[in-house]
Amino acid sequence: MRIRLRKCSLIVKTFILVGLFMITYMVVELSVSSFSSLEKEDHTRNRWERDLHATEEKVEDLSRPLYIKPPPNPNAPGEWGKAAHLQLNSAEKKMQEESIEKYAINIYLSDQISLHRHIQDNRMYECKSKTYNHRKLPTTSVVIAFYNEAMSTLLRTIHSVLETSPAVLLREIILVDDFSDKDFEYLGTYDMGMEVWGGENLELSFRVWQCGGTLEIHPCSHVGHVFPKKAPYARPNFLQNTARAAEVWMDDYKEHFYNRNPPARKEKYGDISDRKILRERLQCKNFDWYLRNVFPDLHVPEDRPGWHGAVRSLGITSECLDYNAPDHNPTGAHLSLFGCHGQGGNQFFEYTTKREIRFNSVTELCAEVPEHQTYIGMRHCPKDGGPVPQNIIWEFRLDGTIYHPNSDKCLSSYRTSEGRGDVQMQLCNASDKNQLWKFER
Ligand SMILES: *[C@@H]1O[C@H](CO)[C@@H](O)[C@H](O)[C@H]1NC(C)=O
Repeated sequence: MRIRLRKCSLIVKTFILVGLFMITYMVVELSVSSFSSLEKEDHTRNRWERDLHATEEKVEDLSRPLYIKPPPNPNAPGEWGKAAHLQLNSAEKKMQEESIEKYAINIYLSDQISLHRHIQDNRMYECKSKTYNHRKLPTTSVVIAFYNEAMSTLLRTIHSVLETSPAVLLREIILVDDFSDKDFEYLGTYDMGMEVWGGENLELSFRVWQCGGTLEIHPCSHVGHVFPKKAPYARPNFLQNTARAAEVWMDDYKEHFYNRNPPARKEKYGDISDRKILRERLQCKNFDWYLRNVFPDLHVPEDRPGWHGAVRSLGITSECLDYNAPDHNPTGAHLSLFGCHGQGGNQFFEYTTKREIRFNSVTELCAEVPEHQTYIGMRHCPKDGGPVPQNIIWEFRLDGTIYHPNSDKCLSSYRTSEGRGDVQMQLCNASDKNQLWKFER
């Protein structure tokens, strides 16, 4: 909690500074006023108002970027991030195709879009409405790493920084070509054993924290990302890279990762001895320290042997419990069945000592039966140490049934009228195979 303490003392200092500043200001103001006490009261008030306006203007000025964007031109291609289509002759079309082939995005079109084009402000309301005291904010360096990047997209990115970031806060822009530079030398460079991309973000984060640095997330500071139709380089290998990060930095906690991603156990993650030497040389803290100090709010799964993994139905034997929530709405679906695939993910469940059925590959969700319903929903689990509501409590009984005491019913598989496997709550009957389940080993 070192970080929080430091923040607290900063706030205290800030208050003291503001306090001192205000006192000083009042003393100066008073002495000036007393000199001019002969002047008309009216006069003094006007000056006060003028000062006030001047101060406001100055505050506004501080948010000014280094360069002011020219006003938007609604007819210009790509203005406000709108899709643009060019009328091309066959020779131009050919050049366009070539640019797409080379960069995986339409650089021919990008070259025609203004470097000063405006984009929509897609920040959430809470961010837009925030006011900042620029004097109290630290300056920042913007690091742009790129690889095989077309000139127009790179230049537009740089312009965007110069034209949107408050100039008083922007110390420098550092361009790093393909991470081959030496900016991150002290904490070790990019893990060269990682192929293409995926997982390197985790590796960097673990490494920076565990080896003495800090890495912050600023939800209101936005960076846009153009997703190419295909990667302009080889296929990413998330799983192999992530296994590498887990092997080097997570100690025994890597088992939680492997439990949820069984195929990752078979990944050939390559030689990690250099990374282990780096970890040793920098005397980095272990993963337990990381969890306790950097991410204390994270729930660490129990993963008791025999009580996690896929849950197979003994009634519809090819199917396992499956939870498939829509993007951005983790609780927006019902528990269902799907062919057992052995890949973890949507079919990974954990039965805890608190008798919850957790679905926790990303966030902690607990299976529940809403009052008077027969479907099984998912809700966010209670905070660690908090009370456990009755309707998320389940019993895996010795007879193989999964009993829900609050509704006095059992989890049951069935086929929908379309023949699809699904689950619902039914009166318990241990002779009914559809009510029998087992964790896969
Ligand atoms: C329990 O399930 C068995 C097998 O499906 C069935 O024969 C029996 O009738 C059921 N009992 C009740 C009380 O529904």
